[in-house]
Amino acid sequence: MAMQGEADPIIKYFGLKEIAFHNPVRVFANEDQSLILSLNGTDAKHKVDNIGTQAATLNAHIVIQNYKPDLIINCGTAGGFISKGGKIGDVYIATEKICFHDRRIDLPGGFKAYAKGNFPCINSDELAAKTQLKQGIISSSDALDFTETDTKIMQENNASVKEMEAAAIAWVCEINQVPFTAIKAITDIVDGPHATGEEFLKNFEMASFALKEKMLEILNFLLVK
Ligand code: ADE
Repeated sequence: MAMQGEADPIIKYFGLKEIAFHNPVRVFANEDQSLILSLNGTDAKHKVDNIGTQAATLNAHIVIQNYKPDLIINCGTAGGFISKGGKIGDVYIATEKICFHDRRIDLPGGFKAYAKGNFPCINSDELAAKTQLKQGIISSSDALDFTETDTKIMQENNASVKEMEAAAIAWVCEINQVPFTAIKAITDIVDGPHATGEEFLKNFEMASFALKEKMLEILNFLLVK
């Protein structure tokens, strides 16, 4: 997870304890370590959460090397799209592929496709049906806002969810053959009338609570199964 505020309701609900610090990543776990929550940590210079693909990549690497997870779930908040039926407070699970919309490498060979990412995620049909999650294609970038070109690529990606970590983590999972999915609660509407930052801040707490509620259902389903 990227933000402390997103993780707090989950840490509290599951009674997770901090078990390790791999600078800057903070690792929390339940008693038998069947559930590991790994947080990107804070930037010591700017005193803010380490949001974005750099920290997400590092976090995923640290978790895979140290804790050998059976499945990585990247959970957090995200932007949704009216044009895709998205609403504030909706919770999505990844489907089909995880893409980037801010990587453009117009060079011969495989670079164009490489830039797009298109990393695998687990088939989420059963989980989505059992826990009433929306399914959507997730597209990542290193920006809370977007450019015209980003919009064009998000449309090409058929994205329903815009966020800042999933594709980075999905790549680390792919190269290490660790199954991956992402759960994202919607704080703001990308193709709506409101300023993203304001809408994000206004809905952050509510969306983080909705995320915790769904994570509870998902983990119950996965651990019982
Ligand atoms: N996280 C929450 N809302 C977001 C958005 N609109 N873009 C990227 N990351 C987000």
